[in-house]
This record gives sequence, structure tokens and C-alpha cells, in this order.
Amino acid sequence: MNTDEPCLDHGGNSNRRRFLAQLGRGVAAGAAGSGTLGQGSGAAADEPVEGRVRHRKLGRTGLSVSEIGFGGHSWSYKRVPDGDEYRRVTIDEAVEIIAAGLDMGVNFFDSCTPELESTIPGEALKRLGRRDEAVICARPSHRMKGVPADKQEVFKWTEDRLRMWQIDCIDLLLLSNEVNVTPQSGYWDMSYSIEALEQLKQQGKIRFTGFGSHFEPKWFFVAFQRFAKHFDCCSMPYNIRHRVAEAVMPAAKQAGLGVITIKPFARGSLLRNRDLDGAEATLPRDMIAFVLENSSVDVCLCGLHTIEQMKMNFSASWTRLTPEDHDRLRQLSMATAVPHGEHAWLEEGWRYV
Ligand SMILES: NC(=O)c1ccc[n+]([C@@H]2O[C@H](COP(=O)([O-])OP(=O)(O)OC[C@H]3O[C@@H](n4cnc5c(N)ncnc54)[C@H](OP(=O)(O)O)[C@@H]3O)[C@@H](O)[C@H]2O)c1
Repeated sequence: MNTDEPCLDHGGNSNRRRFLAQLGRGVAAGAAGSGTLGQGSGAAADEPVEGRVRHRKLGRTGLSVSEIGFGGHSWSYKRVPDGDEYRRVTIDEAVEIIAAGLDMGVNFFDSCTPELESTIPGEALKRLGRRDEAVICARPSHRMKGVPADKQEVFKWTEDRLRMWQIDCIDLLLLSNEVNVTPQSGYWDMSYSIEALEQLKQQGKIRFTGFGSHFEPKWFFVAFQRFAKHFDCCSMPYNIRHRVAEAVMPAAKQAGLGVITIKPFARGSLLRNRDLDGAEATLPRDMIAFVLENSSVDVCLCGLHTIEQMKMNFSASWTRLTPEDHDRLRQLSMATAVPHGEHAWLEEGWRYV
């Protein structure tokens, strides 16, 4: 099977084969240059073209993925202003946002934590008839307890995700852990989960695998050493303020893993109290452009809730930062503390001090 060809949907859409074959040749990706990227290097060779999100190769999956992807929280969190309240993105809004993203070449769709996973992106792709263009990444919550029951947990979450996305195969399944679920607390042994992943692959329910977590960075090194050969990619936070990933990503690459980064805005904290309607309107774009400058990054996932945010964020793909932009981002990164509480792990574990 061609590695540029994610799973077929229920309809066995043959357009998908054609589309992805084109992607591999850099035709559908156009200026995204997917056909000319170095294998697993993450470096985009072609010059950026306005309106086209470039592609990179996702580690040893060989998949050609847009260097910016839709975060799963986009559809799950109530963040769209609605009178005095906030609501989720509606299906009609999602259809509009996703169609515009696909038109720009964006093909990577992440999922949310299991409890918050949404049926919206799967339904939107179905209504658009464009599932065949998407690389779908699901994250079953998993505690790596090192007991046989781990397998059942992975199976259960995978089946749930297949139903919610209305597909029969997930392109990329990432095991994920929470910060309080660490080796110190006894949760770490991935062996039974790896067995489950192998079975799911044999059943044709998933194609590629990875892991990501809120662990402290040091545990990623342990994971690379012990488990990398079983996986295709990994996922970690990276943004202008939380830059420890710069020391972790080369080890991931050395282990042959693709790198998916999350939280380019530290869950929106880096954008809070900024003049986003005025002088600082392009900050979100520039923060993602900063992430993409790192050639170890294969995909940067961002949460977004409106078509305006989507256009702004994805325009990072054809944005080159100037030295002045870098100075501004550096100052901002030092000045903008992320509130503790839910994101203490990010501030404590992933920031150079
Ligand atoms: N367990 C895991 O492995 C895990 C954990 C976390 C994240 N992830 C993945 O990583 C993705 C990205 O992380 P994230 O969503 O937590 O954080 P993020 O991308 O750093 O931040 C998203 C937030 O930034 C704000 N935002 C985005 N674009 C904007 C724009 N153009 N203008 C103004 N504000 C903008 C929005 O904040 P408001 O909501 O305040 O408007 C949005 O909710 C997730 O969606 C998910 O797919 C995975």
C-alpha cells in the first residue's frame, strides 16, 4: 500500500486513492511542495505561496501532511461568543471552516481527549464528501498501567472514535497520557497497549501509531529509548514560551519518529490581553510561523473556533518572520506567564528558565 494513502472510508472512495496519489506527486499539494520534501526531514523545500499550506513528510509514516493541522479542541470547547455566553462551533460553521482549510491544502485533523471528542469534524467531512482528503489522528486516552486490561481500553476508545468519525480506519492512533499519570505513579508500561495497537493494525482499523502526553520532557527520552521502534510519531507541546521541545525533537527524529506539536498559543494564554483587533492582529500567525521555522516539526496543531481564526492561523505557512518579529516574539514570550492550574505542567515542565 502506498504510504501517501490514508485509510479508505466506509464508501471505499476511489477518488481518495487518486487524490492521495496526486498528493504524493506534489500535484494536489501544488505549492505546498509535498513531492519535493526530504523524507522525514520536516524541511519544506519550496518557497511558500500565499493561500497554500505547505506539506511535510510525517516521519516514517511517509504521509504527506499539511504543516498546520486542525486541533481537536476546535470542535469541542465552547469558545464561540454567543451573546453573554460561549457555545461550540455548529456543524454548518464547521463545514465552512473545514472546506476552506481543505481548499488551502490542510489535511491533518487531530482529535480531542475521549471525554470531549466531537462528532462534528467527521460529520462535516462526510457532508463535504471530502473524507478522502483527510489524515485523521485519534488519541485514545490511556494510562499505560502495564496490565492486560490496557488492551481493552485501547480497543474501546478506538471503536468509539471510528463511530464518531464515521470511518472504518483511523490513519494515526496516538496513545496519550496525562501529567499525573507518570512513571513515578506506576503508570508507564506500554507493552499491552503496543499489543493492542498491533492487533488493530492487523484488523485494518488503524494504519500508523504514536504517543504523546503531558509528561515532563525527560520521560520522552525514556520512551524513545524503550518504545520508539513500535511507533511512527510522537506529539509534544511547543510554542514561543515553552521551548524545551527544541531539545526533545532531535531525539525523536533520530529515533525515526515524526513530530506533531501542540499548543502553539499555550491553549490561548499567549494571546490573552493582546490587541488582536489592532496592532497585534497577526500575532497568532507569527506564533505558528515561529513553530514552523523548526525543521524538526512535521505538523503544528492549533485550536481555532472561527473561520477568521482559521485563515489567520493557516497563513503562517506563507509567512516569513523578520528579525524584528523574532525580537517581538521573544519579548512577548518572557512577558506572558501562563496561568497555573490546568496548565501548570506546561509552565513548569516545558519552559526554559
Ligand atoms: N492530550 C493531548 O495529547 C493533547 C493535549 C492538548 C492539545 N492537543 C491537541 O493540540 C491542539 C492544539 O492545542 P490547544 O487547542 O490546546 O491549544 P492552542 O492551539 O495553543 O490554543 C488554542 C486557543 O487559542 C486561541 N486562538 C487560536 N487561534 C486564534 C486566533 N487566530 N486569534 C485569537 N485566538 C486564537 C483560541 O482561544 P480561545 O478558546 O480562548 O478563543 C483557541 O482555543 C488541540 O486542539 C489538540 O488537537 C492534544
